[in-house]
This record gives sequence, structure tokens and C-alpha cells, in this order.
Amino acid sequence: MAEMHDQLADWQRASCYLNGEWSALIDAKVSVLDRGFIFGDGVYEVISVDTLGGMRAPFRAVPHFARLQRSLDAVRIENPLGLEEWLDLTAEIIERHPWQRQLVYVQVTRGVAKRDHPFPVGIRPTVFVTTSPWPPIPAEQIERGVDAVTHADERWLHCDIKSTSLLGNVLMKQYAIDQGASETVMLRDGFLTEGSSTNISVIKDGVIATPPKTSQLLPGITVDGIAQIAGQHGLTVDVRPIAARELKEADEIWLCSSGRELLAIVSLDGAAVGSGAESGKPGPMYRRMHQWFQQGKLDDARSWAAQRDAHQGRRQTFERTA
Ligand code: PDD
Repeated sequence: MAEMHDQLADWQRASCYLNGEWSALIDAKVSVLDRGFIFGDGVYEVISVDTLGGMRAPFRAVPHFARLQRSLDAVRIENPLGLEEWLDLTAEIIERHPWQRQLVYVQVTRGVAKRDHPFPVGIRPTVFVTTSPWPPIPAEQIERGVDAVTHADERWLHCDIKSTSLLGNVLMKQYAIDQGASETVMLRDGFLTEGSSTNISVIKDGVIATPPKTSQLLPGITVDGIAQIAGQHGLTVDVRPIAARELKEADEIWLCSSGRELLAIVSLDGAAVGSGAESGKPGPMYRRMHQWFQQGKLDDARSWAAQRDAHQGRRQTFERTA
């Protein structure tokens, strides 16, 4: 209960950016006619922020804003800000809050108009950015792993767009919770797509496999980071369709996302994942990759710090010469 009060207090301390104005999160208001509210007509990003080596940095901010651009293009909303402005805004929202670990939330909707399906003409997109404290991933989940269940993927066919219309994902997450599990792994036509809010990888005989980036799943920033880090350590990631049967035969199954980083799925539909002594436990590949991932985050934080320094330098030169 005390913890809940603390979290509430933290939420109340959060501020946000809404259409160019900063305010306390609890004071920010959007119109009930916002198409995000009426139609779920908007897209979003979630960016994790951690403090490593004394540097507080978002993980892979540029790829997040590249994905935001792709989502905006897909739903034909003009990007209201340029990349540098997004990065400045990200730096500012982080700076405005004391938390070492944060989850930055970015949302762009089509804007406010009388309720009617066609795109309204002449309205401005609603831009909303906030952040929240990101509690450490529970050590128990890292050490013991998590349970998952499977379900048919019943969502629409544009899951590559990071749309705020998340009803299908919400129902799938609740399906897991109702069964005492922590994630639902979805299958379409007998093949793995993704988790309700995570990407899924399957490990067999030392090879990591992930499904190809089709319109059936979100091209995750974390899963990409893992593939890159695996490559730096001489492992290749096999990108190919993964049949349902392979989940049953896997040595290890991983889930990953900005909020959960990398976790081992140790049971699927009640059956232990893997075989032998490692069955039902996070496997050796997971333990190694989890460590490498932390190192990868540190490398990423260094490049963010260098990029921000260069940016400040450019700005100061510009201001001196302007
Ligand atoms: N979700 N697939 C789905 C359906 C997701 O919602 C997410 C992330 C991912 C992983 O993507 P990334 O590694 O870029 O976070 C995959 C976010 C965290 C959310 O909606 O809260």
C-alpha cells in the first residue's frame, strides 16, 4: 500500500508537454473530440531511460523516432516535429524529472475535429510527451524467468504500426493475467507473431531465431538491439518464420521490450520450456545475453552523451554566430 502511495506521488510529480506547453501531468487536458480519444487515431512510442556509468540516457532514441516517423507516414499524419526537436524534447522531459530510470511516452494523434471518419482538413496533430518512473526489472523475473500462454493472434493486419488503438493487445495481455501468466505469445496461421506487448525470440541449438518484420508484428527496438549485440559477440540471429511447433521444441524462449528489457519465458501453456537440467529455468544463452545487453546499454548511453555534447556545441556556435 505504501508503495502504491509512493507511485501515486511520483505520478503526481510528473510533468508533460502538450502542444508546445509544459504543465503538471494531472493538469494537462485534451478535448473530448480529439481523434485519439474518439477513434484511437494516433501513434506512440515508449522509450526507456536508464542511468549507466553516471549517464542518464534514453535507449536508442533515434531508432524510436525513426519508427515514429514510419508509423506517422503509415497513417498519413504529418510529423509535427523534426528529429532534432524530438531529441531535444526527449532530453528535456528526462531533465525535468529526478528519476534515474524512466519510461518516456510520446503520442501524436490526428488532432481535434467534429466526429466524422474522413481525415479532417486543416487541423493540427496533438503532440503529447510525458514520463514516469521505471522501477527496476524485478530480480526474481530475471533469475527465475516468467510464464506465458499462447493464443491466436486476433488483431488487425497492420501490427507494424505503433498505433494507440491497442484493444487487441490489451485483451491479449489480460488473457495472460487471468491465467496467472505474464505474457501472451500470439500465433497467426500456425506461426509466431509476437507477445501482447513484447517481441519473442526462440533459441535452439545455440541459434537465436526471430520472426521477420512483416506487417503482422511491431519492429521492436529492443529486439533489434539484441540482434546487434548478439552480432558483436559473434552470434547470428536467424530471421525467419517460426512455426508453433518450434516453441514446444525450443531450448529457450525470450521476450523483450523497452519496459521489460530481456526476460526468459520458462513455461508456455503450463509446460516447462527447454529440456534437461535447464528445463523451466532461464537458460545459459539468456544469462549471457542479459549481461551483454547491460553492456550494450552502456555503449548506447555513451553515444547519446556524445551526440548531446556535439548538439550543444553546434547550438552554442550557432548562437555565437547568429
Ligand atoms: N510495447 N510488440 C508490441 C506489440 C509492443 O507493444 C512492444 C512494446 C514491443 C517491443 O517493442 P520495443 O522493443 O520497441 O519496446 C513489441 C511498449 C513498451 C508499450 O506499448 O508499452
